[in-house]
Amino acid sequence: MNWIRSSAALGRVVVRLGAAVLLVALSIGLLGASASASPTVPQPQSIKKDLFGTTPAGEKVFRYTLTNSRGMQVKIITYGGIIQSIEVPDRQGHKANVALGFATLKDYVERNPYFGCITGRYANRIALGRFTLDGVTYQLAINNDPNSLHGGNKGFDKYVWRATEVRGDSSVGLKLSRVSPDGEENYPGRLTVDVTYTLTNKNELRMDYHATVTRKATIVNLTNHTYFNLAGEGTGSILDHELRLNAKRYTPVDATLIPTGEIPRVAGTPLDFTKPVAIGARIRDSFPQLVIGRGYDHNFVLDRKSRDDTSLILAARVREPTSGRILEILTTEPGIQFYSGNFLDGTLVGTSGKMYRQGDGFALETQHYPDSPNHADFPSTVLRPGQVYQTTTIYKFSTDENHN
Ligand code: GLA
Repeated sequence: MNWIRSSAALGRVVVRLGAAVLLVALSIGLLGASASASPTVPQPQSIKKDLFGTTPAGEKVFRYTLTNSRGMQVKIITYGGIIQSIEVPDRQGHKANVALGFATLKDYVERNPYFGCITGRYANRIALGRFTLDGVTYQLAINNDPNSLHGGNKGFDKYVWRATEVRGDSSVGLKLSRVSPDGEENYPGRLTVDVTYTLTNKNELRMDYHATVTRKATIVNLTNHTYFNLAGEGTGSILDHELRLNAKRYTPVDATLIPTGEIPRVAGTPLDFTKPVAIGARIRDSFPQLVIGRGYDHNFVLDRKSRDDTSLILAARVREPTSGRILEILTTEPGIQFYSGNFLDGTLVGTSGKMYRQGDGFALETQHYPDSPNHADFPSTVLRPGQVYQTTTIYKFSTDENHN
């Protein structure tokens, strides 16, 4: 009897074990299939929204995850319009997050060195935080002694933006909007701004910036400040990434990183990236401009047909040799700031728990030249009531075996 009962129990155990083994085998098979899925097998596009955190002022911050049909994924938070992560495949199809960032809203609020954010009202520096427009001199906050940087104490990177989901046939996107009141951070004019992020099925992240002003004329220079590491954030230095810039000239800076006004050629200097060169190849040259910047921190003047050419052109191409990932940046802007992450100093811990050291990420910020309001011969950044500010930048991802 006992034996019968226990053999029946044993039978049940064996059946259960068998089922469990089958289930495990099935799920391994399924997982294996999805892990090795070709990146070209179409997947459903989606937009997912979740609560990311609450600001100290009690505002809710949402995170939107955009996924395209190739599985590329971009996470954007409504605080600062920050791109928190960009997951793209390498040449084997393995995905990694190539954008530096933080895991928590608290880190973004307390210590963000502009990771991923929308910078404005004026990206980069304005000398002594001062400019004159229509006969009135405006004094901005000096938040990068002795200059004003990225919009002042509370720039566009520190506001919660209103978000609207945008669904296209072959793209998913997010439109972020805000109104910057007349006098915000001492900038004149009431500025209505929209920034639309669109993730296409061609692995492009497109950014369309749109702004209008009422009441007074103002100055505008908007960009996105993503720091990239194409081997994956937190994997170390970007010095072996190869960079090509479509720029024969640049705007040298003084000791406070304000353009001197000259626009010399890059030829014969370590700033010549007209052919692909590793970022680290010449970064330790004692060339005075590199010493001032502690590396690269310069605005490059994009090669354009004419001064008013605002067509969408290829501005930069970066390739990471180990993963084969390629980033191309196209823009309608006249300049691009190449910053080699010189101020990262090991005090910040990134999204995946790794600490960021100098040169662990680079930024390529499409823009008008720094301090343009104080240089009459630089392309103008003035926006007047009735005019429309409209610029586009595209981050396009591919690999050196899958380039299209
Ligand atoms: C820009 C500037 C740099 C630095 C970073 C943010 O790239 O040019 O000098 O301030 O922003 O840390």
